[in-house]
Amino acid sequence: MLLSVVCELLIMAKVLLVCISIHHGNTLKVAEGMTEAVDAEILKPFDVDQDLIRRYDIIGFGSGIYYGRHHRSIFSLLDKIELKGKPVFIFYTSGAPKIPILNGCDEALKRKLRKKNAKIVGVFGCRGFSNPGPLKLVGGICKGRPSEEDLEKARKFVMEVVSSTIR
Ligand SMILES: Cc1cc2nc3c(=O)[nH]c(=O)nc-3n(C[C@H](O)[C@H](O)[C@H](O)COP(=O)(O)O)c2cc1C
Repeated sequence: MLLSVVCELLIMAKVLLVCISIHHGNTLKVAEGMTEAVDAEILKPFDVDQDLIRRYDIIGFGSGIYYGRHHRSIFSLLDKIELKGKPVFIFYTSGAPKIPILNGCDEALKRKLRKKNAKIVGVFGCRGFSNPGPLKLVGGICKGRPSEEDLEKARKFVMEVVSSTIR
């Protein structure tokens, strides 16, 4: 009974994943994994506007981490739209693990979303294969990431976050 109610909530919820994944498609893999768990649409930041935002119950913003923050196109989009209490979540892949004491890589996006009065309901991050510059010489780091285990965690995360937000 409880399970069927949760399933219904997951189907009813309108979920948008705003995702830009420029290095190796790592974050797109995570977004695609999430769509296996909830019915969600994936769009690039350039293809999103205020009208579209209004049509969704919950919105995930995700990209790889480049120089310590999410991709600039997500910030440019947020400059143009209002979120006014809209439930949102953050997702990302990064070459390095998050080190909170050094101001974690999701902090800039969290600050921006708070300024837009969004309601942040969760953050999902995992490692992603990376080989820019000199890292090519050693074959890159985080080979095989995101892994199937990462994608399973992403599916679980999005199910929990959507069902607890839309309840
Ligand atoms: C130009 C560039 C800058 C990067 N900067 C960081 C960084 O500051 N911190 C980090 O952990 N990873 C960094 N990475 C690694 C990426 O965050 C990682 O590979 C991510 O999974 C890429 O996601 P994508 O394939 O979705 O673009 C960087 C990668 C590139 C190409």
